[in-house]
Amino acid sequence: MNKLQIRTLEQYYEKYAQSVSDPEAFWEDVANEFRWMKRWDKVLEWNFTEPSIRWFKGATLNITENMLDRHVSIRGDKQALIWEPNDPHGKTVSYSYSELLDAVCVFANTLKSQGVKKGDRVCIYMPMIPELAIAVMACARIGAIHSVVFAGFSANALADRIEDAQAKLIITADGLNRGAKQIPLKRVVDEALEHVSCVERVIVFDCLGWQPAMKTGRDIWWQDAVEGESKVCEAEPMDAEDPLFILYTSGSTGKPKGVVHTCGGYMVYTAYSFLNVYQYEEKDVFWCTADIGWITGHSYIVYGPLLCGATTVMFEGIPTYPDAGRFWEVIDKYGVNQFLTAPTAIRSLMAFGEDHVLSYSLNSLKIIGTVGEPINEEAWNWYHLHVGKGRCPVVDNWWQTETGGIMISGIGDISPLKPTFAGYPLPGIQPVLLNQEGREIEGADEEGYLCVKFPWPSILRTTYGDHERCRVTYFSHYDGYYFTGDGAKRDENGMYRIIGRVDDVINVSGHRFGTAEIENAINMSNLVIESAVVGYPHPVKGQSIYAFVVCEQEVPEDKQIQARGEIVETVVAEIGKIAVPEKIQFVSGLPKTRSGKIMRRILRKIAEGDTSNLGDTSTLLDPFVVDEIVENAL
Ligand code: WT7
Repeated sequence: MNKLQIRTLEQYYEKYAQSVSDPEAFWEDVANEFRWMKRWDKVLEWNFTEPSIRWFKGATLNITENMLDRHVSIRGDKQALIWEPNDPHGKTVSYSYSELLDAVCVFANTLKSQGVKKGDRVCIYMPMIPELAIAVMACARIGAIHSVVFAGFSANALADRIEDAQAKLIITADGLNRGAKQIPLKRVVDEALEHVSCVERVIVFDCLGWQPAMKTGRDIWWQDAVEGESKVCEAEPMDAEDPLFILYTSGSTGKPKGVVHTCGGYMVYTAYSFLNVYQYEEKDVFWCTADIGWITGHSYIVYGPLLCGATTVMFEGIPTYPDAGRFWEVIDKYGVNQFLTAPTAIRSLMAFGEDHVLSYSLNSLKIIGTVGEPINEEAWNWYHLHVGKGRCPVVDNWWQTETGGIMISGIGDISPLKPTFAGYPLPGIQPVLLNQEGREIEGADEEGYLCVKFPWPSILRTTYGDHERCRVTYFSHYDGYYFTGDGAKRDENGMYRIIGRVDDVINVSGHRFGTAEIENAINMSNLVIESAVVGYPHPVKGQSIYAFVVCEQEVPEDKQIQARGEIVETVVAEIGKIAVPEKIQFVSGLPKTRSGKIMRRILRKIAEGDTSNLGDTSTLLDPFVVDEIVENAL
């Protein structure tokens, strides 16, 4: 694998040029470093019109063989996974590569015994405990398609995802630890299952020693189910283009869609990007603080690091428990060398002052990363100075659930640093900036729509059960391009700066929501006729949600707190706490065009507190609603 590492800026330019002039030869070289059961007949076959994208056509492999078996003979006793519990005095759990292979095989056999077959969908709704990673890999081992749902989603959101994927089995736990709180999970699963009928089995990991109700014939304890299962489980031969997993993500319209990633390309790209962006060396300890419920956790806690034979840290808790020094304490405890977190976490820790971070040495750190949302200059500087002590490069990783792996980023300590700029495209990635007319912008310092004009191995293949939706969402805006939904700028050296979403997607603390999705949830409240939500800048969360709500009856001042409470409750029930609007303003009407389209541009300005120039409002159906909204803005 080390052969794949770029070591100098010159090498980066050389590799990049090669990856563009002959992408097939380039990716074939990379793919040669993995274990395949059968080699490919063709490296790449593609078009962006259907779209149809096939990497390593005709090849078979199993990704877990590459993550586990392949390493056992050379680094079997090396720590593969280190787990840090929520409670700082709790017991650390660690798995060597050999132990992890055994655990994955035992659970893979368990899944088989519970009736799971290749191609079946398995929904995983779990705490951040090692068993989550084990469950993910056990699915991959037998060719079941995992769909991990973040354990902060509500019963309704979970039910939608189970239903859409037609999952047959669910893996969950009695409950989870999150800072000082404990959250029931099994109860949420029970509630979700009242609405769906495809689920035959629920495996429940006993995490907290609670005794939730178990439904006879459906529910079984993990600890009982694994009893007597063998440590040997042949890896299922998978076609390179067989689905590996589904991960639901929000877009500007409709319900969240299931992004589908496939075995071969995802393997090649997550490993390649991990190795290069983090310049991983054999003895390093890598820590990504994301939750495995999001793509970052899939690609850079589980798949990427283990494919590279790395030691990966998994953390159950939160950055501020028991205090705002927790991240730094854990870095010193394990001698973490590469650290990856989100801007929102950095900003929230900044607010607690420097003392927490200054009491730890952080000497082991070499490279520190940020991911999930644009990072502002102040947070970048704080991170660089206090965490990186001015000596560790900050790598800003731009990518998406749909891209599977990091696309634009600093590359270890090789590429130049420029605060708020994500950096260069990785080899194999061909980004472009398009103008309104869909023409490529060549010059520097101009803003455009960020698109990609050539496939890379971990590009999404479809949206589960609805290929047309995949085409319309990502491949129909501009002919021949994958559209990211982001706006970006490029400087004279070819470095990219991501500006943020140009569609109706809001990024709250690195979590993505569609405005339509939140509006639908708000509209479920009996009080509400219609609503419009927009994002507005928030000092810690990046963006926050502002809802303009029209109610059946005017809500008098003294009833507003109660009405807000009801709306919040509805959003919590429909999506989860993470999607609750920070501000809810009751309005008598929404600014709409004559054709009925909500003018979000105006609402966005009002939410930002910038009402000096709302632009032309004369085309609105009722221009006077704007005055009223401005007057009562929160
Ligand atoms: C959206 C993707 C990448 C995995 C976590 C989020 C925004 C992501 C950055 C960054 C600026 C970023 C984009 C993107 N985003 N990383 N480094 N700088 N913006 O994955 O939920 O699929 O969200 O997050 O807007 O489109 P996601």
